[in-house]
Amino acid sequence: MFSDQWCKIKALPGANRLIKHLRCHEVPVALASNSPKANIETKISYHQGWKETFSVIIGGDEVRIGKPSPEIFLEAANKLKIEPSDLLVIEDSVPGVAAGKAAGMEVVAVPSLPKQNHLYTSADEVINSLLDLRPEKWGLPPFQDWIEGTLPIEPWHIGGPVIKGFGRGSKVLGIPTANLSTEGYSDLVSEHPSGVYFGWAGLSTRGIYKMAMSIGWNPFFDNKEKTIEPWLLHKFDEDFYGEELRLVIVGYIRPEANFPSLESLVAKIHEDGDIAAKALDLPLYTKYRDDPYLKMS
Ligand SMILES: Cc1cc2nc3c(=O)[nH]c(=O)nc-3n(C[C@H](O)[C@H](O)[C@H](O)COP(=O)(O)O)c2cc1C
Repeated sequence: MFSDQWCKIKALPGANRLIKHLRCHEVPVALASNSPKANIETKISYHQGWKETFSVIIGGDEVRIGKPSPEIFLEAANKLKIEPSDLLVIEDSVPGVAAGKAAGMEVVAVPSLPKQNHLYTSADEVINSLLDLRPEKWGLPPFQDWIEGTLPIEPWHIGGPVIKGFGRGSKVLGIPTANLSTEGYSDLVSEHPSGVYFGWAGLSTRGIYKMAMSIGWNPFFDNKEKTIEPWLLHKFDEDFYGEELRLVIVGYIRPEANFPSLESLVAKIHEDGDIAAKALDLPLYTKYRDDPYLKMS
């Protein structure tokens, strides 16, 4: 039953982009996993172009001791014929980070579970998702797809009636968010990394507006649940709780962050709003204003 599920596993956001980037720049890449080699090969066979990208694949059944022992990464270095200290490991597990560091490699951690960053302190950097990987920090060619502070993503849709937020005075702060319930969208919400995104918002009786939004746990407030908080970049004269709101999310700006003060959080959110408003005038993003999903009759 387990083996039958391989074909259903989706690539993590940013994985295809990274793999394509490394392949285009002919960066040697190995895949070293504690899973048995046969499972790795079956799993990646469902993703176009992945097998060709990894010149070396090592499974847990091919070494004496798996991660957190460095053996699997040292074996990968040996097969790639590259010095361990010249290699960058990208890891989602705590034992994997330990193995990479013990092998004398640089390690970027992309934790597979939310709110667990404190367990990954031995990594050289902890990022929220692959969307935040900056290859140039590690001597690799930079991504070329950022445009005016934004990263275009495969558009996705979400909608529902506007609900009240936690009432932390967002109106007073000048960022009145038109929150959406995550009910019925749990897969979509867990699939998309937390962070600041932007796109177009349709309100059933009013029209279509530019929008910046956060998805996540709002580290400044340390929410217990992942929330969706769209900020429509328009001055409304009254509330519209209960009205149907539809969103098409077209780009990514940054990971969620914590801030030393409320003022600095608010300043950053306003900066996000400016980036979104400007970017949405680019033809690349303007075209999604016509998405039929936004037009309710
Ligand atoms: C564009 C945007 C970016 C945001 N970025 C962050 C962030 O980096 N960290 C954070 O803790 N909260 C962030 N938030 C969430 C705000 O803290 C939250 O929306 C605001 O406090 C209003 O909360 P309320 O709806 O519960 O009143 C962001 C919100 C928006 C709209």
